[in-house]
Amino acid sequence: MKLQSGLGLFVFLSVVTALAVNEPAIIPQPQKITRLVGAFKLAADTRIYTDTASADTGALLSAQLRKSTGWGFTVGSKTSSEPVITAGILLTTNGADAALGAEGYELNVTTNCVAIRAPTQAGLFYGAVTLLELLPPESLAQRAVANAPWEIPCVNITDAPHFPWRGMMLDVSRHFFNKEEVKQVLNAMALHKLNTFHWHLVDDNGWRIEIKKYPKLTDVGAWRDGVGFGLATNSTTAYGSNGRYGGFYTQDDIREVIAYAAMLHITIVPEIEMPGHALAALAAYPELGTGDGPFNVALKAGVNPGIFSPAKAETFVFLQDVLTEVFALFPSQYIHIGGDEVPKGPWKKDAACQALIKRENLKDEEGLQSWFNRRIEKFVNSQGKTILGWSEILQGGLAQNAAVMDWIGGATEAASAGHDVVMSPTSHCYFDYYQSADHSTEPRAMGGGALTLQKAYSLEPIPAKLSPEFHKHVLGAQGNLWTEYIPNLKQLEYMAFPRLSALAEVAWSPKSARNFADFQRRLKINNQRLDQLGVSYRLYRPETRTQIGGWKVAQIKDEFAPVEWDVTKNVTAAGQTRVSLEYTAGACGIDIAWIALLADGVEISRDEHAGFAGGSPRKSVYTLPVPAPKAGARYTLRAQVAGSGGRDSAGNIFWDLKPAAK
Ligand code: ACM
Repeated sequence: MKLQSGLGLFVFLSVVTALAVNEPAIIPQPQKITRLVGAFKLAADTRIYTDTASADTGALLSAQLRKSTGWGFTVGSKTSSEPVITAGILLTTNGADAALGAEGYELNVTTNCVAIRAPTQAGLFYGAVTLLELLPPESLAQRAVANAPWEIPCVNITDAPHFPWRGMMLDVSRHFFNKEEVKQVLNAMALHKLNTFHWHLVDDNGWRIEIKKYPKLTDVGAWRDGVGFGLATNSTTAYGSNGRYGGFYTQDDIREVIAYAAMLHITIVPEIEMPGHALAALAAYPELGTGDGPFNVALKAGVNPGIFSPAKAETFVFLQDVLTEVFALFPSQYIHIGGDEVPKGPWKKDAACQALIKRENLKDEEGLQSWFNRRIEKFVNSQGKTILGWSEILQGGLAQNAAVMDWIGGATEAASAGHDVVMSPTSHCYFDYYQSADHSTEPRAMGGGALTLQKAYSLEPIPAKLSPEFHKHVLGAQGNLWTEYIPNLKQLEYMAFPRLSALAEVAWSPKSARNFADFQRRLKINNQRLDQLGVSYRLYRPETRTQIGGWKVAQIKDEFAPVEWDVTKNVTAAGQTRVSLEYTAGACGIDIAWIALLADGVEISRDEHAGFAGGSPRKSVYTLPVPAPKAGARYTLRAQVAGSGGRDSAGNIFWDLKPAAK
């Protein structure tokens, strides 16, 4: 007995040591991966073999390996019906297990050869991506790297995605990203096996797609006076020769980007927003709007609601003409028609809209939007396409064949009624939100809270209340990058990664294969891959900051007076805490004289300096030594504050304790 268990331990240890050398770090985590002993070594004469159908996929793999290793990676054909090689790398659809589905693959690595088998080219492509991930991160280098350990650990991988929709949305209206920048985004998506790029092409702040029949859409609608959103003029290079901010894609640009995406097995779903978020279109063609305008391309949504009029025949002629050109460009089955955040006030006040509501026997303005959607859907369906819209397209009744993109709910209701849904809830998928609750260390972002990496990773795309028979209607998940505060590519990448890596794993890997601790291990290697691709990212740090409370109008006086919070449960170790006060609402802020820490009512430390927490905060972070917690003691934080020009403000207070090094 003793000898046996001792031997067992020895064998176990030696396997672990062998594995640690080149532990696979694949994101998204494959469905099934078995690590074997040994490795396949790439060499200057390693060849790639493919069946005839897979020559292009083999060429893609060859091109990348040629770039990073400097070796030839000649692609040879393997036309024989026997799908076996004795040396080299094989990519083939021959002998692939059909059960792997539209995107699955098998990858088997022995010391002599590598074989990727998949029923489709998409599957083979994903197998090739996994192969690159089994190599060192330098496999993604853009020029030859000498002396990299070009070894692929021996493995058996069987892999297929959990969901067919693994997406990212890019808003190119608030800020414009040119076609080369979009391709860079697509490259990073492909590394993560993301397959759907939702291109938010039009909104209030800019119209970005050339429509031949309506040239003013881009002559007028693609340009505005400045970068907007309070951002620095030099935060972007997207200016026209006239010095105005903006840009657009010609139809040739669009075709080029679609072809590039197709090579990476990414479908592009275009979004043409209607009937709201239409200021840029109405700046060009004001006669299609509800009300009088003026409809200027806005720096900020909300200046004018900018809504198409459903009571004008010309509106439908225009939209159908636009969609006809869009359909001629995009092979995507889906056309996203937006539908979100349509204020109903203008339709309420508009006599023609009210007459239409009466004539069509509609309940109200929501019924009018539903009527509008159905009319558009009839046209879209007649062209063989399917509409997709944001949560609000459910209001007033969902069009017959429409799919829903859930950002503020509606997925359970829609899927239960047999409609397909894509999950992109603000809680987990809005990557324009802050990545940390500590806003002082982050670039300006959207919202008051934080959408951390861990939160993004915790998404469960199937809504909890959805009955199992409707689960098939959940197509997958998508990360959304709205770009109000994202004026350039580097910042876009920083906001996307690593949260989009988390989303990719949520959408691809089965729940049983997901583990946040292991994800963090793999992320470190993934970051090195992004380095090779020249893609920026945020370095993940676990959140150490917690909110201990806030202040409300009722607590603030005109003269300096103390406000207190119980921090007993936050005094967890001796060290130093950073206390930040962050204003969230009100016309004014608060002046701060000092902040102190008290133990059982007795002050033990204080940071005294003048600070201000308001719209433009000044020195509103206070640093205090924290003692080792004493059992049974009650700790209190006391701030000496006064209303600044009034008492009307509210905000949050955060505690960030760094324990002293032992
Ligand atoms: C949205 O974020 N308005 C869909």
